[in-house]
Amino acid sequence: MLFFEDFLFLKTIGIIVKFLSHFWKMFKRLQQKWGINGTQFWVIFVVFGLTGITTAIITRYISGWLGLGVNSSWVRIILVRIVMLILGYQLVLLTYGGLLGQWAFFWKYEKLLLQKLGIIASDMTKDSRKPIKIAVFASGAGSNAANIIQYFANRPDVSINLIVCNKPGAGVLTVAEKNTIPTLIIEKERFASGDAYLPELKNAGIDFVVLAGFLWKVPIALINGYPNKIINIHPALLPKYGGKGMYGSKVHEAVIAAREKESGITIHFVNEHYDEGTTIFQANCKIDSSDTPDTLAVKIHDLEYAHFPKQIDKLLSAQTK
Ligand code: GAR
Repeated sequence: MLFFEDFLFLKTIGIIVKFLSHFWKMFKRLQQKWGINGTQFWVIFVVFGLTGITTAIITRYISGWLGLGVNSSWVRIILVRIVMLILGYQLVLLTYGGLLGQWAFFWKYEKLLLQKLGIIASDMTKDSRKPIKIAVFASGAGSNAANIIQYFANRPDVSINLIVCNKPGAGVLTVAEKNTIPTLIIEKERFASGDAYLPELKNAGIDFVVLAGFLWKVPIALINGYPNKIINIHPALLPKYGGKGMYGSKVHEAVIAAREKESGITIHFVNEHYDEGTTIFQANCKIDSSDTPDTLAVKIHDLEYAHFPKQIDKLLSAQTK
């Protein structure tokens, strides 16, 4: 008897686990389809829930105001419900969506709905095109990667689809995990002298590559696979303090040792030489006599956070025009 109860108990647990794993897969698929992260997914769920409840309350209120009751004509009752569903529900949805920071998602949803109903013409504007897929290459803490992900989080036209990293355990992998972005760990031999992981990038549909704290030289195989579509950020005013071995804190140490009065950031296209591709953008900051490599690093990071995502955005719109 005990054996039978145990069996039933285990069977039930099995069914629950199976159900949860199906639910989880469906949740992941929806997330990918909608191009959103985990937090957004739940916020969107909450918006739909609140909209349903609010619309029901408003419909009831309007019905009362119009004097509709059990004895009223069903045509009038249905008419009020249809108007509320077509108009009221959508307005409430947009309002909650906007209030909870998901305007871009719900506006895109509304536009699709209106196009399906034939109310507005289907267009080929930025919003209705497939998103541009970006791979971020990084090997460090990943604070720039996190900033870029956050900047594009609500954008239906751009999606950060892959984090490429050469350092198992690097902070950027935690950033990827938190944002449920797939990762690709690469090793030197294949990257530098093989196919540069081009098949994986192309299979993932990557359109654009952003180096955000990536320290290996980019091989010609990758450059040829993405002509004018790979950019890098360097924590100094190139051509000064660039080249092999010049990265992160080493750059700031060299700048401080040379008693420079200013430093800054350079965003540039990547060619086959370290830090030599065409400059896209530079911004600078003053160096005080009290600055150390660490305090300079903070100033540089602030510049990077303020400009890098915006410059990526600008470049993408220029390239897709
Ligand atoms: C950034 O400051 C970036 O400019 C630099 O590495 C840092 C990465 O920080 N890149 C280079 O030095 C490339 N030569 P993060 O991991 O916190 O984004």
